[in-house]
Amino acid sequence: MTKNNGKSRDVIKVVDRAVDEFHAGQEDLIPILMHINQEFGYIPKEAMEEISSRMHIPQSQIHSVASFYQMIHTKPTGRHVIKFCESAPCHVSGGREVWKAIQETLKLKPGETSSDGKWTLTTTSCLGVCSVGPVMMVDEDIYGNITPNQLPEIFGKYE
Ligand code: FES
Repeated sequence: MTKNNGKSRDVIKVVDRAVDEFHAGQEDLIPILMHINQEFGYIPKEAMEEISSRMHIPQSQIHSVASFYQMIHTKPTGRHVIKFCESAPCHVSGGREVWKAIQETLKLKPGETSSDGKWTLTTTSCLGVCSVGPVMMVDEDIYGNITPNQLPEIFGKYE
């Protein structure tokens, strides 16, 4: 992910390129949002405004679509995003204890970003690897069969 929390001009350039590439039909809103999220790590306010004006979609609608998808962020995220699987198979295979331990270790609640900008903690629905639950993703890495005592080692891999 290219984190570029930079200038509005860059945001507008990225939005324009994405809108042109995906043809700007309303059905293309999700791929456009995904692309912008990939570039900036979230959807900057200027991007919402630009998409709204280019695609003639109200900003409130864009915001509600962006908020619905867990992989799209409407606020700046930390350098590393943790997605913990909260679906039932992971939950019953020890996920509850691991989830509690993650929040205690990082001192974060779901949706929060640490004050040093390192971590953002989120949940996700099933990641499709239920046989190795509990499961979490850190950025693009998937960890299975996690126990609370493995957390320091896992988190220690990320700077
Ligand atoms: S329920 Fe967690 S990966 Fe499927």
